[in-house]
Amino acid sequence: MEPLKVLVVDDEPGIRSGIERVLRGFSVSFPFLDTDFTYELIPVETGEEAVGIIDNQKIDIILLDNKLPGIQGIEVLEYINKNQIDVEVMMITSYANLDLAVRATNQGAFNFVPKPFTPQELRTAIEAITKHLYLKGIGKNMNKTEKQNRFQFLSVLSHELKSPINAVEGYLNIMNDKQMGEDLNSYMTMVERSLIRIKGMRNLIMDMLDITRLESGIKRREIRPIDLAEIAKISKDTVGPLAIQKNIKIHLDLPDELFFKADYNEMEIVINNLLSNAVKYNKENGEVFLTVSKVNSGIKIVVEDTGIGIDKNDIPKLFGEFERIKNEKTREISGTGLGLNIVKKIIDMYRGSVHVESEPDQGTKFTVTINS
Ligand SMILES: Nc1ncnc2c1ncn2[C@@H]1O[C@H](COP(=O)(O)OP(=O)(O)O)[C@@H](O)[C@H]1O
Ligand SMILES: [Mg+2]
Repeated sequence: MEPLKVLVVDDEPGIRSGIERVLRGFSVSFPFLDTDFTYELIPVETGEEAVGIIDNQKIDIILLDNKLPGIQGIEVLEYINKNQIDVEVMMITSYANLDLAVRATNQGAFNFVPKPFTPQELRTAIEAITKHLYLKGIGKNMNKTEKQNRFQFLSVLSHELKSPINAVEGYLNIMNDKQMGEDLNSYMTMVERSLIRIKGMRNLIMDMLDITRLESGIKRREIRPIDLAEIAKISKDTVGPLAIQKNIKIHLDLPDELFFKADYNEMEIVINNLLSNAVKYNKENGEVFLTVSKVNSGIKIVVEDTGIGIDKNDIPKLFGEFERIKNEKTREISGTGLGLNIVKKIIDMYRGSVHVESEPDQGTKFTVTINS
């Protein structure tokens, strides 16, 4: 990624070189991005020079001192506004001048660093402004439907996070007020329930990251021959602990090796999700059959279970975002409703297909086919 261009406007050479030292080699990364943001600094001494530069080239961030020899920082800000120049401004003020802070914020300055600032304060401020630029960039590149989709996705997501947060907060308040007395044992159920809710939130975040990576297309995909038989075995081990709790047997039907050109991580997500569902939505002492085979045109993955099954009417909903089938049988089972959505998104990337057959109370069979 191109470094972000940072114009540093300050008449004190010490400040300019200080900023240079702090930001040289500094980078900001986000968990869902493979590349880091870095910075290219352009130091100038006056507001006049700054105006000359922003008129002629795209600058991403301006670190703007207010007290300058010629025109003042706030006037540079006014100029930026009047000419609708697309840049984020961070003011540097020699003393915490509240008046100026208000004026600058009204003029659209993003934030402030008070002089003198520590390297950490500067880095934190730069990190905040980078995040803002990044999010703004996403918004700009989206059309109206995409914006609506994102809005809907985020609304459901926040709704999904609210209830576990409320629950954990409630329990913590009870403990904080010692409502059940001094004996720690009285609170153990609450601690256990809190841990379960937190685990649920963690799963939600992990699924979210998978979706974001897939949809952004930023994640580096590595399409190379991978052994699906190996992934199937690893996946069985991953799901093992869950299966043991319900005494469920997982049967594998695999060739010794089955090489297929795909991204390892993506295939692992697909098989893991189908297999963990087959265990989660199964009955005590149930069975799961995972078959991976070569078919003339590509590969076929079949996951079949002897579980609770799915009503015909619910099948079309399965692959939607946050879709979970709510009934007596699934009430106690936790999930995010994102797993099959992720599976579908991945399969679509390979122009493959997923097919579901199910009989309530008898079991379910998911069949994935991908052509090579
Ligand atoms: N093998 C299965 N048997 C019965 N129901 C299933 C099975 N797999 C998925 N489902 C239903 O589909 C819903 C969506 O699955 P998924 O997207 O993986 O979300 P999650 O498992 O997090 O709830 C589940 O909540 C469940 O109701
Ligand atoms: Mg699932």
